[in-house]
Amino acid sequence: MMATTTCAQEKISAAFSSIAEMVLPKNILSAIQEQVVGRHREIELTLAALTARRHIVLEGPPGTGKSTLLRAIAQAMKVGFVFVEGNAELTPARLAGTFDPARVLNEGYVADAFLDGPLVEAMRAGSLLYIEEINRIPEETLNVLITVMSEGEITIPRLGRILAEPGFQMIAAMNPFDSVGTARISSAVYDRMCRIAVAYQSAEDETNIVHRASPISNKQWCAQVVNVVRYTREHSDLRTGSSVRGAIDTALVAQSLAELRGQSTETSQVGLDAALTSLSGRVKLREGVMRSVEDVICEIWNTVFSTPSENGDMGKVTAPTGAMNSHS
Ligand SMILES: Nc1ncnc2c1ncn2[C@@H]1O[C@H](COP(=O)(O)OP(=O)(O)OP(=O)(O)O)[C@@H](O)[C@H]1O
Ligand SMILES: [Mg+2]
Repeated sequence: MMATTTCAQEKISAAFSSIAEMVLPKNILSAIQEQVVGRHREIELTLAALTARRHIVLEGPPGTGKSTLLRAIAQAMKVGFVFVEGNAELTPARLAGTFDPARVLNEGYVADAFLDGPLVEAMRAGSLLYIEEINRIPEETLNVLITVMSEGEITIPRLGRILAEPGFQMIAAMNPFDSVGTARISSAVYDRMCRIAVAYQSAEDETNIVHRASPISNKQWCAQVVNVVRYTREHSDLRTGSSVRGAIDTALVAQSLAELRGQSTETSQVGLDAALTSLSGRVKLREGVMRSVEDVICEIWNTVFSTPSENGDMGKVTAPTGAMNSHS
């Protein structure tokens, strides 16, 4: 029995790798890994679901690299893809397409008068439909996708039925339901997609991401900036911490500030000022906390940078007077 199972598994994996090889030449993986730091498991799972011709949603907090990963995959696979930005203004007509009113007046509802929206464009071309922020899309627009996902077709009044060409697949990204501005997507939509959870990167990957964005910065200093940002996600006074975007901005702003001041990026006051500029709008205080976000960022900065730096600077710094009065 055991042997049969193993044999079946071997057959499945052999069949899968031959499909994968057909659809995914070896260099695709390395092309993706050139653009994406880490995320090997998520890349592998996304490629597997795409190769299996499934629709996919990547779900995770802001700044966890979902768009970076999807863009890298779409580029590396060299398949056509149609991009849709999910937002509250995306009506069913904007997603699927509409008749050109001027042509309808002259020619009536002829097929040529229909202006394809991104959904119909991707279906006709057999492309990837790449939807950003899918859970910001209004429910009536999401409903249009339900039949498309399961039946591969859409019926448009006065135009008729459009069948999706082979290769049409939906790949979407979204923040978890509790993020600001997001709505719960219906179980009918979820039931038609594979879901890949994308959590925060490891400290090492975040450091590599920041260092890649700011290659002239000292890597050890980037690691400490990353520690500051990771600490904002755990601090008891903060409801929302910063994503890796806050660490990237801190590194880049510190570089420019150091040049303006004629000092080193690693001077404590340069780094702290860059962190205050980059993080104070991103982090949010918990209800009832009476300190300012600047005060919390200062505390975190001093905790992380409390060991002497290379230039002998002990690093205990404060936010400038006048920066302590926001209670966001
Ligand atoms: N794994 C990664 N490799 C390279 N860069 C990354 C990675 N993760 C994040 N980044 C960088 O961090 C920033 C945010 O990444 P990205 O836009 O892909 O996040 P996201 O998950 O799509 O966020 P949101 O949910 O807010 O749309 C970008 O500047 C990107 O370059
Ligand atoms: Mg994104």
